[in-house]
Amino acid sequence: MTHRLTELTARLGGIAYGGDYNPEQWPRDVWREDVRLMREAGVGLVTVGVFSWSRIQPKPGTYDWSMLDEVLALLHGNGIAVDLATPTAAPPPWFTRRHPDARPVTASGTRLAHGSRQCFCPSHPAYAQAADELVTALATRYAEHPALALWHVHNEWGNHNALCYCDASAAAFRTWLVARYRDLDALNEAWGTDFWSQRYGDWEEIDPPRDTTAFRNPGQELDYLRFSSDALLERHRAEAGLLRRITPRVPITTNLMGTLEKKVDAHAFARTCDVVSVDHYLPAHDPDGHIDLALNADLARGMAGGRPWLLMEHSTSAVNWQPVNTAKQPGEMRRNSLTHLARGADGLLFFQWRQSRAGAEKWHSAMVPHAGTRSRIWREVSALGAELATLAEVTGTRVHSDVALLFDWHSWWALELQARPSAHLHHLDQVRDWYEALWRENITCDVVAPGADLSRYRAVLAPNLYLLTDADAENLDRYVEHGGHLAVGCFSGVVDAHDRIRPGAHPGALRELLGIRVDEYLPLRPGQDARLEDGTTARRWAERVEPDTATTLLRFADGPQGGPARGGPAMTRNLHGRGTARYVATCPSTAALGGMVRDLCAQAGVRPAAATPPGVEAVRREGPDGSYLFLVNHTAEDATVPVGHATGLAATAVRDGLALVPCGGVAVVREDRSEPHG
Ligand code: GAL
Repeated sequence: MTHRLTELTARLGGIAYGGDYNPEQWPRDVWREDVRLMREAGVGLVTVGVFSWSRIQPKPGTYDWSMLDEVLALLHGNGIAVDLATPTAAPPPWFTRRHPDARPVTASGTRLAHGSRQCFCPSHPAYAQAADELVTALATRYAEHPALALWHVHNEWGNHNALCYCDASAAAFRTWLVARYRDLDALNEAWGTDFWSQRYGDWEEIDPPRDTTAFRNPGQELDYLRFSSDALLERHRAEAGLLRRITPRVPITTNLMGTLEKKVDAHAFARTCDVVSVDHYLPAHDPDGHIDLALNADLARGMAGGRPWLLMEHSTSAVNWQPVNTAKQPGEMRRNSLTHLARGADGLLFFQWRQSRAGAEKWHSAMVPHAGTRSRIWREVSALGAELATLAEVTGTRVHSDVALLFDWHSWWALELQARPSAHLHHLDQVRDWYEALWRENITCDVVAPGADLSRYRAVLAPNLYLLTDADAENLDRYVEHGGHLAVGCFSGVVDAHDRIRPGAHPGALRELLGIRVDEYLPLRPGQDARLEDGTTARRWAERVEPDTATTLLRFADGPQGGPARGGPAMTRNLHGRGTARYVATCPSTAALGGMVRDLCAQAGVRPAAATPPGVEAVRREGPDGSYLFLVNHTAEDATVPVGHATGLAATAVRDGLALVPCGGVAVVREDRSEPHG
């Protein structure tokens, strides 16, 4: 991965601000109004062309560049840079008509009909050919265009078509398997095919894990998830390769979906990008959706190796794909935006610029709403643009984290396959619970893969790593050996890369590091809590843990209220090399996790970004010329936070060393360098 976001922000002279611009939905006279309003709102970057394939290539072999030519010229003439999308996410009707067998097929064998977007099989050669042809033509046409500042490859790879079970996918899967295993015996061994008489004698006997009579083979399913993510990655690499060859001067990104997309291993995609960008939409069902936002921002920064990243899409107000699409409260969009900025975004873009009149997303909010410019949304959009201009000095500064939180798509996939001890233990719930405990303490963490370089972190938290490869297990071991402080959540280190139980007692890969043996896993029924001896509670899961070299920090309460593991260890700590390794054998409540996090951080010497009242989030960005403290008030009360000698930026008031953070508002201060932080 190269890091080329600075090329973009240098060109823009600060924070990128804008959104998806879909002029194909509007007549020409609206384009002129669009650019006028973009300038009014301080928009400097727009993503163009995401869904324009049918306009650009109305027929096979026929290109019509008139719209893009005119729009790019108009934008450039008005000083607005273009993030040009390869429009490969929505093949036009003619493509499907020509290649009906390139449509994706579900696990039950249904071939999906044309009529939406991403209606293609990622492994189908006809799609690859058509997409490559289109990308080559587009890149060649605009290679030297002065508006072109960034390439936006595809759109949200795999959002709707990650898993295809057609015959083309089956053939590609076999090729992928041959490359991975070389010989069939190795595959049979990895998948445990002697179970239920599934031994393969010929590669051609292997199919995708389509719907079948009973449980599917977990090794096969896990590899199919890997293959499917890799098939998309191969398409991404193909497009990126063409773009790099034709326009080496232009950096490349693709909008990843972070935790919102289980089927795509975003870590792998991020490694191929020049600029890491993500989309984030608030989960409406979650009253603490801003914690999900923070988690995804920290994941984006983790994927960018701690460097700044780009928020490619979020919404000004309601989305249109949740059961009830609540509008954002006044001020909420600003709060969301500045939280992304606080956590390292150097660009804030929306889906989309102008709210559609027609089509599937006309009820999705936008920067220019149906109500036009006499609207709350427009006022907030243009005010945010003006505010970002005053915060330009923050661009390029970094968030420094002493803590890493480990997140892994492969372990997520494996944990949630069929026939596990509990269908109620989810990777994301674990990650979210542990992340929330850090968030409530104002402890900033990078969310990274378990194979990442951990040496610079004082503490590492692994909420759940059910699947742990040998290499990743060694990485954790080495980290602690060299003095790191690690905390591992329940049901971790259990299986190898093929979902095979590690021999000996659980948790196989971590037994020595944690200094424990798990005698038995004891999942809890929904609603069945277990009490811990300090009076806090835990849910979902318990284990009968036998400490080996570890000491017990906290036990399940004695008696029936302690649940099935009553009286046994719930949290342990082992001294290993120069560091410590803790184990948490259940899913503690936020209060109990808070205690664990405080204790761990005290031991590791990790300090919060700032001391704030509950519900006021604090994050710091630091650069060679200054550090910036962001304070986000999620409560209904105004708050004050001690900031020492600091200057309020934008509308922030600082009086007598206290920053005022209005209820629902955000304060940004530039800190005096002579004062210690935190
Ligand atoms: C994203 C997608 C956009 C738009 C948006 C609506 O997932 O990339 O094209 O559909 O969601 O929330």
